[in-house]
Amino acid sequence: MIRVTATVNGEQHTADDVWPGESLLFVLRERMGLPGSKNACEQGECGSCTVYLDGVPVCACLVAAGQAQGRQIWTVEGLARLSGSGGGLHPVQQAFIDAGAVQCGFCTPGLLVAAHDLLARDPDPADADVREALAGNLCRCTGYEKILEAVRLAAGRLRAADAGDVTSARHAAGAGS
Ligand code: FES
Ligand code: FES
Repeated sequence: MIRVTATVNGEQHTADDVWPGESLLFVLRERMGLPGSKNACEQGECGSCTVYLDGVPVCACLVAAGQAQGRQIWTVEGLARLSGSGGGLHPVQQAFIDAGAVQCGFCTPGLLVAAHDLLARDPDPADADVREALAGNLCRCTGYEKILEAVRLAAGRLRAADAGDVTSARHAAGAGS
């Protein structure tokens, strides 16, 4: 048995008596009280368990608990604390709600992390790029159109917020309109 200590959503979390073969997903859900990441297949097939591990989206069901030692992890529970949220839901989360992209919701946590990652890399992705980026996240309910719509909506809102930030900074710096 091992002790696993990791920074999860910006806070240090420790789990004791962890069997080294346990998955990071199990540790997050059952030992650290973070059930947002879902367990749908436990085989790396569905993406519902997607979390950031040191900034890279991974299937938490495929990461051994021991590999998480000392690492930085962000789960869906922490998304709102990442940049762009302004204290409420993250714009990606809000867009999924507004576009009707959440039905049973089982795929949603993983899709949110994957979509967040895509938009951090590419603020204005083409539909084909969105489909490719989310190809590892399976949804049984929505037919994906609403999900595409949600990502487009989030992308537009994030770009508008960024433009607003630049304009505010220019005003603050006395640069005129
Ligand atoms: S539960 Fe991890 S990929 Fe399906
Ligand atoms: S909303 Fe049900 S699996 Fe995607």
